[in-house]
Amino acid sequence: MGEDKVLVEIEREIVGGDFQSAGDVSSELKKVLQQVGFPPSFNRRIVIAAYEAEMNVVIHAYRGVFTTQIYEDQVHIEVDDQGPGIPDLELAFQEGYSTAPPHIREMGFGAGYGLSNMKKCSDRLEIDTRVGEGTKVIMDFFLNSEE
Ligand SMILES: Nc1ncnc2c1ncn2[C@@H]1O[C@H](COP(=O)(O)OP(=O)(O)OP(=O)(O)O)[C@@H](O)[C@H]1O
Ligand SMILES: [Mg+2]
Repeated sequence: MGEDKVLVEIEREIVGGDFQSAGDVSSELKKVLQQVGFPPSFNRRIVIAAYEAEMNVVIHAYRGVFTTQIYEDQVHIEVDDQGPGIPDLELAFQEGYSTAPPHIREMGFGAGYGLSNMKKCSDRLEIDTRVGEGTKVIMDFFLNSEE
């Protein structure tokens, strides 16, 4: 059971529409991953996926909780939000599909690549969403899948 020990656990609130703090959780995670000493390529894909999930709460939801557990050989991330949910997941995963309004696009978001990026960067991605309630994103990253 030794290899299942949690090295670091982080739990942070994400506030919808708060572009001042947007990205802070992923930045904090990046520092922690560097301290743990994982290979840069492993950290990079975790931070990209975490950032996309964090920004989706800021842009599309009202609030969320970001939780991560870092193990010796694995990183687990859950982002659980209260928000509108995603009515059509298959459509949402299509590159270029976005419901972001013009004022969000003016800030440089809403290209519609976040979910496909999360899929590419993670080793396991699960999305549990209920329209009118919210969305939960679960991602796992396995160190042994690094070349
Ligand atoms: N947490 C969420 N809550 C509600 N809807 C979401 C959430 N995450 C994604 N979506 C929906 O799925 C669509 C696609 O998401 P995706 O992250 O791929 O693109 P985007 O956020 O619109 O743009 P980008 O990520 O490129 O800035 C969003 O436009 C939105 O309609
Ligand atoms: Mg997005």
